Amino acid sequence: MLATERLGDIRRGDTVLLNASGCLDALLAPEVARQLDGFVTKTITPLPREGNAPPRIAETAYGMLNAIGLANPGRKRFLSDTLPQLRELALPLWISVGGFCAADFAETCAQLDDVEAIELNLCRFRRRDRRRLPRRDAAPPLRKALGGPS
Ligand SMILES: Cc1cc2nc3c(=O)[nH]c(=O)nc-3n(C[C@H](O)[C@H](O)[C@H](O)COP(=O)(O)O)c2cc1C
Repeated sequence: MLATERLGDIRRGDTVLLNASGCLDALLAPEVARQLDGFVTKTITPLPREGNAPPRIAETAYGMLNAIGLANPGRKRFLSDTLPQLRELALPLWISVGGFCAADFAETCAQLDDVEAIELNLCRFRRRDRRRLPRRDAAPPLRKALGGPS
């Protein structure tokens, strides 16, 4: 259940989402995806990524571990191939955006029109860039890219 009162067209209540861990490939199983109230993509990075070499999933006594390593087709192919196909599902789309510096995030977000929400996956945001661009200064370019007030 969402912690917010309202996010886009999704309201708090009995909303069903699968998080960005990407347990589901919506294009391989569209009939399953259509049972959700919105689809959250795997994280998209500027360039394609193979992800980590297998094994990428391990079961332990304390739960399941995964280290996929942000495998994804990259921004260009996502925008030209994947996103148009996802739109055909007619579901609210939440796009998970990843990158290594503020410009990576801003450039991808600027190309995402007409999506329900954008999730920023900051896991690989470089420490070096963090020092150069303090957190409070990173927000305005991102907000501008997202079409909001700067
Ligand atoms: C909001 C969010 C979304 C994520 N989505 C993905 C994903 O789609 N694919 C993936 O491999 N890891 C995903 N992860 C996990 C980490 O981003 C991923 O393990 C990352 O490579 C960890 O980086 P590190 O090894 O530098 O800590 C997500 C994490 C967060 C917080």
